[in-house]
Amino acid sequence: MSTAISPTAYNYKVVRQFAIMTVVWGILGMGLGVFIASQLVWPELNFGLPWTSFGRLRPLHTNLVIFAFGGCALFATSYYVVQRTCQTRLISDSLAAFTFWGWQAVIVGAIVTLPLGYTTTKEYAELEWPLAILLAIVWVTYGLVFFGTITKRKTKHIYVGNWFYGAFIVVTAMLHIVNHMSLPVSLFKSYSAYSGATDAMIQWWYGHNAVGFFLTTGFLGMMYYFVPKQAERPIYSYRLSIVHFWALITLYIWAGPHHLHYTALPDWAQSLGMAMSIILLAPSWGGMINGMMTLSGAWHKLRTDPILRFLVVSLAFYGMSTFEGPMMAIKTVNSLSHYTDWTIGHVHAGALGWVAMISIGAIYHMIPKLFGRAQMHSIGLINTHFWLATIGTVLYIASMWVNGITQGLMWRAINDDGTLTYSFVEALQASHPGFIVRALGGAFFAAGMLFMAYNVWRTVRASNPAEAKAAEQIAVVGAH
Ligand code: HEM
Ligand code: HEM
Repeated sequence: MSTAISPTAYNYKVVRQFAIMTVVWGILGMGLGVFIASQLVWPELNFGLPWTSFGRLRPLHTNLVIFAFGGCALFATSYYVVQRTCQTRLISDSLAAFTFWGWQAVIVGAIVTLPLGYTTTKEYAELEWPLAILLAIVWVTYGLVFFGTITKRKTKHIYVGNWFYGAFIVVTAMLHIVNHMSLPVSLFKSYSAYSGATDAMIQWWYGHNAVGFFLTTGFLGMMYYFVPKQAERPIYSYRLSIVHFWALITLYIWAGPHHLHYTALPDWAQSLGMAMSIILLAPSWGGMINGMMTLSGAWHKLRTDPILRFLVVSLAFYGMSTFEGPMMAIKTVNSLSHYTDWTIGHVHAGALGWVAMISIGAIYHMIPKLFGRAQMHSIGLINTHFWLATIGTVLYIASMWVNGITQGLMWRAINDDGTLTYSFVEALQASHPGFIVRALGGAFFAAGMLFMAYNVWRTVRASNPAEAKAAEQIAVVGAH
């Protein structure tokens, strides 16, 4: 194998911008998570003002962590991976720059409008129509940049990571556009094009596939590139990765009705959603095993490499949450878990354990390469971050399991005469210790992000522009 330096270079500028903003939005979104978790412990923190009330800040939290933090991590890594695996520069610098600034504009729009109370009321699709249209334009441009770059690739194959990123981009566009169909009546008020049970089904078709394609498929693209890279081992099975891809995208799209068990949705649709969710366990675990087994022969690296630890532990949480999800989709289990903190625990097992941990691992892998450094400023600080994140996640989900099952059992307890054994307030009182532990776990996780910010800042500050420029050169790997 010989390596020659090509005259052309990767566009790392946009990757650097998205990578840095991942850390910034991570701190803000998770900091806000700790704040709303504290509001559930000390309601005085609502300050008696509409703008700072839990009801308005909760959707801001979800938008910041999913779309700002998770979204920037996906943009950064997909632009990095598509260029490196296709050995070519992004198809257009100006369109890529537009996606960066457009995406930041949508996020700033969310920060302004959600506390003011402008909302469609659809979960994870709260942004009103002007912002939703901007988001759609940015997303279609993202698709043009990503797929345009693939068409001018210098390699024969399209690496499997790009298949996952590609599916995530296409399906997210479809979900967003269909679910947001609405009739605007003023600048910040619109009515959904759908009504009743149809509206609910469209919303949870969107909501579940936002989980399936935004929070899972995109991050699996990340997994297929960064796990082998960091472990310095080829992916365990390329064949399994292709089966994993087709099985996952074929099954996920049907599972939405498990969010609408025991509602006005036709019973057959609920049962179909339940069955598809159970089958979904197979491709989910196939993907997890493919990632884990990539470490065969490299397990010893876990002792010294905290970045690899982030990546592997994220896979463990992915496996855990994709086991828990199908169980919760069974109607009898859901009759206990639905509306309780168990759902919140499941969400954060996926969100903190899987989504955030894999993103953090990928960002730590990329930052030195993007800024022309050999490694991060401090490996010790990455290790500290790793433990804060792991302990924080465990505290969060364990407290929510206890709370969820307690709430479910207390709500359904009935006396001999048919009256309820407990009032709602009694169940709330029983949940209070769990709320404290959750806020503590969240504070651990968010504190870890501050260590990350300091470490990234020190690495970037030590960056030498000439070395950073050299790192952008495309190394063309020849056949000999
Ligand atoms: C095989 C995979 C999975 C299945 C079958 C599944 C299933 C479920 C079920 C049954 C619920 C509860 C619905 C309810 O009672 O309201 C739920 C909620 C949720 N899950 Fe999963 N889950 C899976 C994986 C994941 C992963 C990996 C994540 C995150 C990255 C995730 C994020 C969520 C979110 C955000 C909700 C809450 C939705 C809401 O009510 O706002 N899930 N999931
Ligand atoms: C420091 C870390 C975090 C803390 C303390 C935190 C805290 C919270 C709290 C208190 C809620 C409201 C729960 C309720 O209504 O009872 C919530 C909801 C939610 N959070 Fe987080 N969060 C954190 C990180 C994240 C991250 C990184 C993500 C995604 C990548 C995420 C995604 C969500 C989602 C999807 C919901 C809505 C769940 C549902 O409706 O079922 N959170 N979070």
